[in-house]
Amino acid sequence: MNVLVTGGAGYIGSHTVVELLESGHEVVVVDNLCNGSEVALSRAEEITGRSLVFVRADIRDRVAMDAVFAEHHIDAVIHFAGLKAVGESVEKPLAYYENNVNGTLVLCQAMEAAGVRRIVFSSSATVYGSEAPVPYVETTSRGTTSNPYGTSKAMVEKMLEDLVAADSRWSVTLLRYFNPIGAHPSGKMGEDPLGIPNNLMPFIAQVAVGRRDELTIFGDDYPTRDGTCERDYLHVVDLAVGHLKALEARHESGVAIFNLGTGQGVSVLDMVDSFVRVNNVPVPYRVGPRRAGDLPAFWADATKARDELGWVAEKTLDDMMADTWRWQSANPKGYEN
Ligand code: NAD
Ligand code: UFG
Repeated sequence: MNVLVTGGAGYIGSHTVVELLESGHEVVVVDNLCNGSEVALSRAEEITGRSLVFVRADIRDRVAMDAVFAEHHIDAVIHFAGLKAVGESVEKPLAYYENNVNGTLVLCQAMEAAGVRRIVFSSSATVYGSEAPVPYVETTSRGTTSNPYGTSKAMVEKMLEDLVAADSRWSVTLLRYFNPIGAHPSGKMGEDPLGIPNNLMPFIAQVAVGRRDELTIFGDDYPTRDGTCERDYLHVVDLAVGHLKALEARHESGVAIFNLGTGQGVSVLDMVDSFVRVNNVPVPYRVGPRRAGDLPAFWADATKARDELGWVAEKTLDDMMADTWRWQSANPKGYEN
């Protein structure tokens, strides 16, 4: 298949590009590099021994997107491009609606014009909202989102559902990710956040490598086993394989929604302890106040992905810790090295 990967120079996109190339698909990446790196794409080529096409463009640029579809015979689109920082989205809501909602709108208009009606979209567990019963299951309706980032994901899901309702030739797969972490086992590709990491795993890795003094654990008075929040962390390579399975297993039109997670909740303290134990490096931390908007605990019911896509998260928490450290210690400054 010829697959257009938007946001393919980013964290999850670049790992998915590797799985696509290794499975024999042809890949065209569109990325504006606002949070991605061309080095990630060269590393993907190095790992797989195959080449891809890279177009530096913004998905909101209709002329550029029309040119991509005119120049390449695209069979399907995996759509990662977007902004993803929850806190920033509260401060700059319009940037999030512009990039995530309008960007997807322009992409779909270009797809429609080119007669390409197959899309796999990066959604998030955050669309379930704070009231959903845990574990989250796909039959639960979208809930009330608590920040513009989450709202932008819910809006795009709804827009894609409306598109299918209007034209049944569209095939839309909504993948709701839980907490992707880890890195490619080669140590050549991983997460490379700009500035201070918002997320737990890259923060732990940067403390371990000496770029930050200590981790602050945001609250230890939650109603959980050890008082810290629990999340469903899954290996980014498993997540990447999930995209491949979604692309290869779904041939029918319509909308399908899948949770991609392990089905296990892991606490913040468990994460720190596992990282230290597996990698034998210290991670100093202190406990601080809760972070606004954090939910105590949620994880996936991932049985639908297993039953319908034949996908299960195979890698262990220890794999996630070891691969994160292999990447971070070999590339202390990320792709800048
Ligand atoms: P990332 O920031 O590493 O990758 C996104 C890529 O999209 C970047 O390379 C960026 O340069 C590019 N991009 C952004 N806006 C663009 C635009 N307008 N035009 C072209 N390119 C653009 O993020 P990621 O962690 O790889 O996430 C990928 C997708 O998965 C995002 O849509 C994100 O919201 C979603 N997601 C991520 C997580 C997570 O925890 N990482 C969880 C749930 C959902
Ligand atoms: N945490 C800390 N210290 C830190 C960073 C995080 O204690 O420095 C804690 C958080 O309080 C939370 C846990 O680690 O309890 C995980 O936090 P992350 O920021 O790594 O992940 P979240 O679950 O908050 O957010 C992720 C994605 C969002 C998505 C959300 C819901 O980053 O994009 O899951 O799916 F919206």
